[in-house]
Amino acid sequence: MATSPRADTIAQGGDGPAPSGECIILGVTGGIAAYKAVGVCRRLVSAGFHVVPVMTATATRFLGEATLSALASEPVRKSLFEGAGPIVHTTLGRRADLVLVVPATARFIACYANGIADGLLLSTVLATRAPVVVCPAMHTEMWEHPALRHNLELLVERGVLVVPPEEGPLAGGDQGAGRLASPENILDGVTRALRRRELDLSGLRVLVSAGGTREPIDPVRVITNRSSGKQGHALAVAAAERGAEVVLVTAASLPGPTGASVVRVETAAQMEQAVLERAAGCDVVVMAAAVADFRPKVTASSKISKSEGTPELVLEPTPDILAELSRRRGNGQVLVGFAAETGDVAVRAKAKLQAKAVDLMVANDVSAPGAGFDCDTNAVTITGADGSVVEVPLASKREVADAVLDSVVALLRRDNPLPRSTK
Ligand code: PMT
Repeated sequence: MATSPRADTIAQGGDGPAPSGECIILGVTGGIAAYKAVGVCRRLVSAGFHVVPVMTATATRFLGEATLSALASEPVRKSLFEGAGPIVHTTLGRRADLVLVVPATARFIACYANGIADGLLLSTVLATRAPVVVCPAMHTEMWEHPALRHNLELLVERGVLVVPPEEGPLAGGDQGAGRLASPENILDGVTRALRRRELDLSGLRVLVSAGGTREPIDPVRVITNRSSGKQGHALAVAAAERGAEVVLVTAASLPGPTGASVVRVETAAQMEQAVLERAAGCDVVVMAAAVADFRPKVTASSKISKSEGTPELVLEPTPDILAELSRRRGNGQVLVGFAAETGDVAVRAKAKLQAKAVDLMVANDVSAPGAGFDCDTNAVTITGADGSVVEVPLASKREVADAVLDSVVALLRRDNPLPRSTK
């Protein structure tokens, strides 16, 4: 994928002036890692960004306001009622090319995830349409708390880029996960978030499938799998944010992402119908769904009773939707499959790539920790029919989604350098 001069400048560590002076609102919340925001601010300014610092009241207990004011492009802002036009948070939200929160406390994350506009920084992140990058830092117990994880998941689903903390020394002599990410990783997050704005899928129609299908045995029992739909939903969010018109055919019970038209299905047959009906008008189809390979040959019309003895289920294969898409595909349509494997991942994924005749096969080893079904992260290998191989080490499902879409964009640009749509 083409890289903007801005992205290159930051990736190189911020040396040398950047051309356009894009505006970054640098939010600082009240944790011990607040002092590290100073180093991040310096690097952003030297990379040519116009940095507007916004501190919460608690942040000022950890970091002198004068320090940040002296190093940023403008003085620190703290109040909804002072400076920057009559409505400070909307003015800042509109000026922002990106909002970066370093560090983000558990409280900030909880308020942001729940839409609580408590103070200038929270009001600004809720009032902006710019990408938002959040860098959590806290003690391990808080970082691992289910409430914090749930709130972060909500933010990621809505397209916020989270730069996860690292392991290392923490305040108070403790050690563990929760230490603010390194400045390099934070700047890398800024680069990735700015790239997302490129709208490189603008004018294209993208169909994504997600979730595990449920095949009924009787009115109360189903055969299903462990897919949560998170990877497919992350793909839909990412594609929509990159400018595509997105149809999401989902068997998952997750909320429908903003920006996608959602079709809810349950069985493989319903997914087949929904996907095939819509795929012809799409430039890209990504099958992230875990479609059941087998279903009961007969579905009992009433609940099978235990008193009838142990039933013998006769299964039949479901239609292979991806293989059918491949048989039907029109000129220039890009087809992407996912392969969930538990061993010989590369070999099996390559075999599926060839058997289903798709452009890209995204292989995930679902037996690896933190990868595959029902977690927030994934690690994949994207293999192209042209022999290309892209490894994506453990990352959020949103980041994996962006990596898959980067490969799609590279294919579209290779095959047709001009923007196009089959609409
Ligand atoms: O949903 P999550 O919890 O986030 O987990 C994500 C995931 C592990 C489900 C996802 O990353 C993934 O790997 N999805 C594909 C799972 C799968 O069914 O793999 P498969 O190897 O059985 O199928 C290969 C491809 O053929 C897939 O693109 C699948 O959608 C497609 N297929 C499979 C069977 C079938 N009858 N029709 C199909 O179209």
